[in-house]
Amino acid sequence: MNEHDSERIRGVLEENDWLPTDDPEAADLLIFNTCSVRESAVNRLLGRLGEARRLKNERPERLVALAGCFAQSRQADIFHDLPFLDIAFGPRNIGELPALIEGARSGSVPASSFTDNNMLSGGLPTRRGDDYRAWVQVMTGCTNCCSYCVVPGVRGPERSRPVSDIVEETRRLVDDGVVEVTLLGQNVNSFGLDLDTAGGKRQSFAALLEMLDSINGLRRIRFTTSHPRDLGPDLIEAIRDLPAVCEHLHLPVQSGSDHILGRMNRGYSREHYLELVGLINKEVPDISLTTDIIIGFPGEKEEDFFRTITLVGECRFDGAFTFVYSARAGTEAALFPGLIPEVTIKRRMHELVSLTQQIALAKNQALAGSEVEVLIEGPSRQGGSQWRGRTRQNKIVNFTTPGRGSAPATGSFTLVTIDSATSTTLKGHQSA
Ligand code: 5AD
Ligand code: SF4
Repeated sequence: MNEHDSERIRGVLEENDWLPTDDPEAADLLIFNTCSVRESAVNRLLGRLGEARRLKNERPERLVALAGCFAQSRQADIFHDLPFLDIAFGPRNIGELPALIEGARSGSVPASSFTDNNMLSGGLPTRRGDDYRAWVQVMTGCTNCCSYCVVPGVRGPERSRPVSDIVEETRRLVDDGVVEVTLLGQNVNSFGLDLDTAGGKRQSFAALLEMLDSINGLRRIRFTTSHPRDLGPDLIEAIRDLPAVCEHLHLPVQSGSDHILGRMNRGYSREHYLELVGLINKEVPDISLTTDIIIGFPGEKEEDFFRTITLVGECRFDGAFTFVYSARAGTEAALFPGLIPEVTIKRRMHELVSLTQQIALAKNQALAGSEVEVLIEGPSRQGGSQWRGRTRQNKIVNFTTPGRGSAPATGSFTLVTIDSATSTTLKGHQSA
């Protein structure tokens, strides 16, 4: 979501005749688009701001702007704490950036906007990173109350974009050469709950997928993120039945312990999660399943951690993003007792990561000998004459091509036979 916001910041700026540069020394405007979901992102930002302060002192007419959810969460003190800033704005105020720049240039005080202007940023100009794939925002904000999470506080309540806007934007992207879209929302499964119901019929996410699936030329539809509490059988059927919808589901579980899930306020049980995973595996046998897990949540006992380990063993995830819990100001969990010592967290993390890697490796190795459809992303980072792409299951594939023929085109599809695998990538050769 944050990266897509950056694409929009760039789109809005380019529409106002600003050009991007990779060289901070040459920039007239420096923008940091920030995230505050975990402390590690904030720490990285604080390191980068030192350089921004130096650049500002060097050339005072240069503007420095702070965007995104860290700015939003610190809005009251931001210009006091970071006096070299000229502009600060939240994730809901990207469209106001040209006016903020004008304000900062003409006034002697910094310019900011954090108001919830009820505007959906989906319609703003976007400068995409790739020609052949795009993000499409289907909703903003989040109305859940996971006790550890800053998102509802900084991005505001959930709002769905009208279906017709989403379909129209996707059509335009496909006309422009896009073959893959990723639909973005904090909780796509509750898409449409806040929309007016035409003729009493709810606009569900599954129904939206069906509409997008019928767009000619759109080969792959991805979406993120699903919430286990709200994922219904209609979405599983959509993944099973709609040709463009990819066989990949990112379904953050966060913990395998009911005690911790309750304290996290996630709204589902371990058993419910396992049932969902059973159902999706039955209906879509070639599904790839990924998840998010938090380790060291306040009060996480050894038996809670053990429940997470056994859940991972049962679900056999294709990939897991593992996070050390970080207390975020303003969230409910920041006040919870029962902080876990760092050594315990390290040990648990180590155990969890080795298990998830071992499972991912076994699942990837099982693909050896099979033929997969790959959307080509360009030359492999490993160099040589290798290419890189992704399967429908969102697995990265590095592959070789036969002979000295022309280089495979980025954004085109090819068939690749898998030869070997690591826990994160597949290796193969282009099928004859
Ligand atoms: N501490 C650690 N991880 C967090 N996440 C969200 N908030 C926190 C936090 N306070 C993780 C969750 C979520 C992912 C995007 O980030 O696992 O799914
Ligand atoms: Fe945060 Fe929970 Fe909303 Fe995800 S569903 S953005 S974890 S509050």
